[in-house]
Amino acid sequence: MADVSAVVLVGGFGTRLRPVTYAVPKQLVPLAGQPMLFHAMDLLPSPVTRITLACGYKAEAFEAYLSQHPYRLPVKVVREAVPLGTGGGLLNGSVGASDPFVLVNGDVISGLDMDPMLEFHLQHGGVGTMSFYEVDDPSPYGVAVWDSEQRITNFVEKPPRESAPSRWINAGASIWSRELLKEIPAGREVSLEKEVLPRLLDQGVYGFPFRGWWEDAGTPSRLLNAQRLLFDHPRVGRFTPRCHLPGAQVIPQVATGKGCEAAGATVGRYVTLGDRVQIGRGAVVEDSVLMDGAVVGDRAEVRRSILGPGYHVEAGAKVHDRCLANEGPAPKP
Ligand code: GDD
Ligand code: MG
Repeated sequence: MADVSAVVLVGGFGTRLRPVTYAVPKQLVPLAGQPMLFHAMDLLPSPVTRITLACGYKAEAFEAYLSQHPYRLPVKVVREAVPLGTGGGLLNGSVGASDPFVLVNGDVISGLDMDPMLEFHLQHGGVGTMSFYEVDDPSPYGVAVWDSEQRITNFVEKPPRESAPSRWINAGASIWSRELLKEIPAGREVSLEKEVLPRLLDQGVYGFPFRGWWEDAGTPSRLLNAQRLLFDHPRVGRFTPRCHLPGAQVIPQVATGKGCEAAGATVGRYVTLGDRVQIGRGAVVEDSVLMDGAVVGDRAEVRRSILGPGYHVEAGAKVHDRCLANEGPAPKP
């Protein structure tokens, strides 16, 4: 196929990852050595040649990051003046989209292979093809059922667990005909999942179930699980994490940015350090993400935690199961 484009949604506030997301948008938090966003973009099928990032909250942070760290495909940043929701954000970011185009939520990581999914979509037609993954508790997600032809017959966003129609959840990666865009009301906030999708089913939307691994990195515990999955399932031919920590005891997998120091400390397993992170002697950092400039004092312990840029952990402190950052909520005007 010639020229397939993708829209990646990254405009949410990341409320479930506060206070870290007061400092950095959710999709720029690094996992296994590169931002969540880059892992989401790595999911795109191989015919994709260009990407539009549908941004809202902290759009300038995406522009700044991408100008310093270009992705392997061209990425255009499109901003919303007010939050438009997943549907409105898609519409705003869809100028010049190909037919069909690919849509991915910027906070999903997965072993899904979208190449056969694109083939499936081209063969079956219909308005769209959505990927689905089976979980025990579907209630925090969109849930669907489909018929013997894989045509979705019911889709409910975030149903109560007892009334969920199945355990197959919207995995946040889909392929759409441009017909979808006509169904999204312009100029206001629209939830694609709650408002548009249920009305669209009559026109033919297909389910593409897959197994393997998947996570939505939208909460601290899910984010750390996403990182473990990414370390355990490197994507062939894509990014390989690097680790440079002279004098430290490293328990793989560990990914480090530039200029980190951890002599005399134990780091790993499953740790990402941003740039210039300092870890003191006798300290232990495990199953965690420490962003640029974070400092861990001597003999401190950081386990199952996310530390925002420049966050300091005092010598000897124990930080377990925490999501911490220097930035608090912006003062009310
Ligand atoms: N541009 C833009 N504008 N993007 C937005 C907005 C907005 O107003 N609101 C949310 N987004 C982005 C988020 O930043 C995220 O990357 C993506 O859209 C999905 O939003 P989430 O807030 O993470 O949604 P969710 O995880 O509760 O549910 C969605 O994802 C699940 C799978 O991960 C739904 O699509 C569910 O159906 C799905 O199962
Ligand atoms: Mg999400």
